[in-house]
Amino acid sequence: MKTFYVTTPIYYANSLPHMGHLYTTVVGDFLKRHKRQRGYETYFLTGTDEHGTNIERASARAGRTPKEHVDYIVGELKQMFAAFGLDTAHGGFDVFMRTTEPFHYEGAAEFWRRAAARPTPKGRENIYKGFYEGWFCAPCATFKTEAEMLPATEEGGSPLCPIHERPLDRVSEESYFFRLSDYDEALLALYDSRPDFIRPDARRNEVISLVRGGLEDVSISRLKSSVSWAIPVPGDPNHTVYIWFDALINYITALGWGSENRKAALGEDLFAKFWPGLHLLGKDILRQHAVLWPAMLLAAGVEQPAGVVAHGLWLDQTGRKGSKTLGNALELPTLRRHFSVDAVRYFLLREMSFGQDCKVDYEAIIARSNSDLASGLGNLVSRTLTMMHKYFEGVVPPPDISEAKRLLAKRAGVDSDAQELSSSLELVRDQFVQNVEDFAFHRALEAAWGMIARVDKFISDAKPWELAKSEEQRETLCAVLYRSAETLRWLAVLLYPVMPESAGSIWRQLGLEGDPATFDPNELKWGGLRAGERVGEVSPLFPRIDKVKTMAEIEKEIAQRKETEAGQATTPAEHSGEHATQAAVPGAPTADEVKPEQPPQQGATEAQPAPPPAAAAPEGVATYITIEDFIKVELKVGEVLTAERVPKSDKLLRFTVDVGEPEPRQILAGIAEHYEPEKLVGRKLVIVSNLKPRKLRGFESQGMVLAASIGEEGRPVLATFAEDVPNGARLK
Ligand code: MSP
Repeated sequence: MKTFYVTTPIYYANSLPHMGHLYTTVVGDFLKRHKRQRGYETYFLTGTDEHGTNIERASARAGRTPKEHVDYIVGELKQMFAAFGLDTAHGGFDVFMRTTEPFHYEGAAEFWRRAAARPTPKGRENIYKGFYEGWFCAPCATFKTEAEMLPATEEGGSPLCPIHERPLDRVSEESYFFRLSDYDEALLALYDSRPDFIRPDARRNEVISLVRGGLEDVSISRLKSSVSWAIPVPGDPNHTVYIWFDALINYITALGWGSENRKAALGEDLFAKFWPGLHLLGKDILRQHAVLWPAMLLAAGVEQPAGVVAHGLWLDQTGRKGSKTLGNALELPTLRRHFSVDAVRYFLLREMSFGQDCKVDYEAIIARSNSDLASGLGNLVSRTLTMMHKYFEGVVPPPDISEAKRLLAKRAGVDSDAQELSSSLELVRDQFVQNVEDFAFHRALEAAWGMIARVDKFISDAKPWELAKSEEQRETLCAVLYRSAETLRWLAVLLYPVMPESAGSIWRQLGLEGDPATFDPNELKWGGLRAGERVGEVSPLFPRIDKVKTMAEIEKEIAQRKETEAGQATTPAEHSGEHATQAAVPGAPTADEVKPEQPPQQGATEAQPAPPPAAAAPEGVATYITIEDFIKVELKVGEVLTAERVPKSDKLLRFTVDVGEPEPRQILAGIAEHYEPEKLVGRKLVIVSNLKPRKLRGFESQGMVLAASIGEEGRPVLATFAEDVPNGARLK
């Protein structure tokens, strides 16, 4: 049997699910369903990447152990996938892979050992010990990336920490390296021999020029004392495996590679059956998949993947990448609340020209739902079926027009045979399948919608309601409705992987037996709908969305969410920096806050060791932070100069505060229900002064005031001073 193995990236288990997770998983789910229809045995992997500094930090902030934290995020992710019909129960992914699975530890260690035991294409050792160098800020206890440092103030000086404004130290740490630099020729030969290895072409060209420019060795371990929440390096307990090295291997350990335990649990050798697989991913993590991973596979002597396919990113209307911090990302719960799963799936696959970035907002989804789904497909189904019930009492009419009635039919614009229509359908089917093969999902759908428009026009031109008035035109009327209904049968099969629910509903409304899920589009033949069979009840597919009403509801939800964030911003014990949107996960960062870690290269400064890890606390015992962690927070005395309510907000007050700087700061706080603004003027408060500014209700808040949170409802009581203190004095 033909097999098809498709993977999404495994998502970082430090943040709640977002649009990027949803999108790639929908694409994987679509491909799996399409290939199954075409007779492939399929295996679809998604999952979570659960190691590394960022996860360790996020869990410490949330007061959880790393394992508790990743379990929590995985629970949320699985719930979201279920809500969007992407889980196993709905016919979606076959495995939810987690890198904390013991069998993955076994497989990853085996992979390391094999790579270590084999030479590079240039005959040297694949893995060697060296020193990882980077710019380190001692008070932050972290290495800083290029993007995270300020330029040196003097020629030849060290760059500065943006938080402490002090020069960074050049620090080096023992590390194992993977000799990626020996793989340039082997990789170029691979890309050359397999032109479809990296898709789309533009991405392939990017990767080729990157590799031609030369590759540097990659640091693939950190000292355990720097990064403890990771897989131990086999044979060297002082080191842990770099998370990208560990994460990429998941694509094969999930299938049982490198672990007898996993093989036994699976009951069959899925690696032998399904590998090589096709990797779907966003263009931001193409290098890891198209350069590092193939080189790793060459090193360990494992077959290359079937392909690496990179999609673009979802942007807001101004072209910025959707981000929770900027407040410009679509929220999955909001999407789910206001749109059907099928409408969202259709939108994602239709709107983005696969491979390119795409702008999105809620209005764009409403517009597409109304035009393509409600007025397009939904309308064609309902008018066809309604007329079938009205004129033929719910029975499929015969398709043929007799010799005697040909001329009459012709006058109504209906050819005597359905040749033209059936040929068009075949063409559209072929285009659909080919476009899916080419990852041009938007084009596949364009082709299908071209057919919808055509049949719609055919009905409008033939005017069945007029034909119904004349007994003479009975055959023409039959032929028109048969053709429309038969087209819908084809569309239900083609569109099943895009909109499983709705395709099933069309199938049932047509009175068909079985399931479009198991119907191979390539085997569709004109005439499958049998005259004389009873059709089902008409049931609406895609109700029209009232744009004004829905947008008002969505905006209200957004405003409420922002208010909640503002409320949280005054309760320091629960505040977690940038990520107050995620009320349910105190301490979990937003998706965009934690960028995927890039493979660090020798001499580069990308990986970040963790601060000394927070002690894993038993239940009921506080998690400790170190003094280095604490001094990252800059607390200052601030005097309230002015205070007023923020218009249209019940909760927010807007202050100007003197924190001993040349200009007063504007700070917002969600305490309006508990404090009269005028009574606060002149009060000296505790201000968090190095918090990244953020906009609330159109006002930038340049810090945060501290307050105790009292009782169950969290009544704020502002922290203040019993003695006089100068503005700007630092709290230590
Ligand atoms: N853990 C790594 C992947 C390891 S795979 C061996 C990772 N995780 S991630 O959670 O940060 O990102 C997962 C995917 O989400 C990536 O493919 C990324 O491209 C995608 N997206 C994140 N934001 C996105 C958009 N705004 N739009 C579309 N997809 C984007 O990277």
